[in-house]
Amino acid sequence: MLILGFESSCDETGVALYDTERGLLSHALHSQVAMHAEFGGVVPELASRDHIRRALPLTELVLKQANKTLKDIDGIAYTQGPGLAGALLVGTSIAQSLAFSLGIPSVGVHHLEGHLLAPLLEENPPQFPFVALLVSGGHSQLMRVNGIGEYELLGDTLDDAAGEAFDKTAKLLGLGYPGGPALAKLATQGKAQFKLPRPMLNSKDLNFSFSGLKTAVLTLVNKHQPLTDEVRKDIAWEFQEAATEILTTKCMAALRETGLDNLVVSGGVGANTRLRERLNAATKKKLCKVSYPRLEFCTDNGAMIAFAGAMRLKTHATGLEHSSADLQTNSHTASGAYAFSVKPRWDLADLTKP
Ligand code: KG4
Ligand code: ZN
Repeated sequence: MLILGFESSCDETGVALYDTERGLLSHALHSQVAMHAEFGGVVPELASRDHIRRALPLTELVLKQANKTLKDIDGIAYTQGPGLAGALLVGTSIAQSLAFSLGIPSVGVHHLEGHLLAPLLEENPPQFPFVALLVSGGHSQLMRVNGIGEYELLGDTLDDAAGEAFDKTAKLLGLGYPGGPALAKLATQGKAQFKLPRPMLNSKDLNFSFSGLKTAVLTLVNKHQPLTDEVRKDIAWEFQEAATEILTTKCMAALRETGLDNLVVSGGVGANTRLRERLNAATKKKLCKVSYPRLEFCTDNGAMIAFAGAMRLKTHATGLEHSSADLQTNSHTASGAYAFSVKPRWDLADLTKP
């Protein structure tokens, strides 16, 4: 089955073609970072308009790269949520219109399921069951993943997400949007000078809390005004040490508690080099395995959506009972079948097996 995937939940338009026999055939991405940079963050209306501009040219590009035409596609996957409502509507309406005009099924994919399954796009993919650390701009979760659609929440953030903490700290240090990568870069030039707290490091559960860390950074920043370059670098260094120590400690606790020896990391913060260094060392010590998506698939992309959609459509096509996600078979156009919806808020726990 050849699946076309669309990602448009935030500030990246991603399109990809995934073949269930041959794997990922092509993918393309347009990042809106430069467009939003002057506003210091994502402007939702601008994001929606830009998705409209990019979606079809990127579709043409991935088809051309894979030497395919629209007629070769068997199904279409699109991010249905969570995310910015207007941005989601663009991808959803384009995917649904294309699927309808081609008479093929479409499936709404949960953005976080896309992130969770992204490491499975790599060679030697991790085997189920595994513990997943999902660390993005909006989420910091530990999950036990028994199979596709079988997600058990082990721990969550009580306040800010890890990516959000990176972004807010970056802002306090005068770095532009997006903050995470800029802060990570600055941290490489820093050294141990300050000490920041590690909230909930030794709590008995698998939950996180990052807002206290951010407040501690604010206190440091206020105390050292005007900030010199050296102070900025050293705060960035210590923040990254604190955040990655918390994440690593909780991952190891989750492996211990579940008795599993397989860890999978996904989401934008999974691109952080220091986090990977720490996780590699900690898992090696405990004889556990750790897998990551390639760097470009840590952050938002179309490939993970095409893949997650393919897994769901494949099960549907083999006639197994379908129980989850919004799947539409456009060949059965009952009245009202033209309707579609997005889910700007959508709990991953609401997903079930395909
Ligand atoms: O997964 P993602 O692209 O979008 C969401 O679904 O949220 O994650 C974006 C988040 C942002 O907060 C960004 O600052 C963070 O991931 N991020 C990083 C790095 N690259 C991206 N944080 C720390 N270090 C990085 N290298
Ligand atoms: Zn994401």
